Amino acid sequence: MIEAYVTREELRRLLSALLVVIIFICLVALFAFLIIPGTRNANAPIAVPAVNPPQGQTGWLDVTEYPPEAGYTVPPVDPKTVMTPTPALLARGKVLFEQNCVACHGPEGHGDGPAAKGLNPPPRNFSQPTGWINGYQIEGIWKTLQEGVKGSAMVEYDYLSTKDRMALVHYVQSLGDFSHGPEDPAKLAALAKLFASAGQVVPPKIPVSMAMAKLEEEYVAPAPLWNLAGAPALARRSILDPARAARTLAGLSGWRTDERSMARELVRGAPANGFSPAVATYTPEQWRDLHSQLEGIASP
Ligand code: HEC
Repeated sequence: MIEAYVTREELRRLLSALLVVIIFICLVALFAFLIIPGTRNANAPIAVPAVNPPQGQTGWLDVTEYPPEAGYTVPPVDPKTVMTPTPALLARGKVLFEQNCVACHGPEGHGDGPAAKGLNPPPRNFSQPTGWINGYQIEGIWKTLQEGVKGSAMVEYDYLSTKDRMALVHYVQSLGDFSHGPEDPAKLAALAKLFASAGQVVPPKIPVSMAMAKLEEEYVAPAPLWNLAGAPALARRSILDPARAARTLAGLSGWRTDERSMARELVRGAPANGFSPAVATYTPEQWRDLHSQLEGIASP
């Protein structure tokens, strides 16, 4: 019925015009979405991430994978040099803060670092006096650095030296434009005493993966049942996997003296315990034989 409005020839021309328009739109879209952004990105300078937190110290990739560190004894520090925010301490605090804390707390300490997204609770905003758990006074911030805040992404920074941690304490305070005082003299005196005392021991730290590798290395498999080739037929028939059977027996305390409970355990665990499932069919005489044969071949 469309022929009532256009002739076949006109329809053909209309459709081919439409086709040309569609192809043109596709080409424009191709340029707009793929080729132009592609050429633009190709010429763009390589983006450098705003912060590069040291891996492992901040939970950036995996909190359990920090570099291993040897243990040491903290030397005493003269409290006079760290209790007040000297320019040198603040400068040191700024460097440490940029290395260790900006990822979460942000460059100005507003709690808006790139790693803060999705943290619950969010990192503390140091410019506000509200919401502090350990407090914004010297002793409170020291405690936070010593122990971290349980149940949050704030971990302890106890591996930093006393002086470095105090530099951070003063720097964190300097980020808040509100009164942090008055300090509790008793708490300050206790801190000063701690700093002055020698012999605080910081234990060595190794990452979890290293600890696991070490455990694996130190694991000694129980000696396998020896001399199975020369063992009596019944024992050879009953043992499918000598190493596993040896481990099973090693875990069965008292199997040497209690033949019946040994039988019960071996039947229950077969064949995963290294013994043949056929042991379930053994008569008491066969168990007695197997028991004495096992005693003969198992290492003492
Ligand atoms: C992985 C993210 C992260 C990093 C890195 C981090 N913090 Fe935090 N921090 C937090 C979070 C989250 C909280 C809030 C804890 C809460 O509210 O329970 C917090 C809280 C704090 C507090 C307030 C504790 C209180 O009393 O409420 C201080 C002080 C603090 N951080 C200092 C530091 C310093 C100094 C560094 C660097 C040495 C640092 N943080 C590095 C996540 C981080």
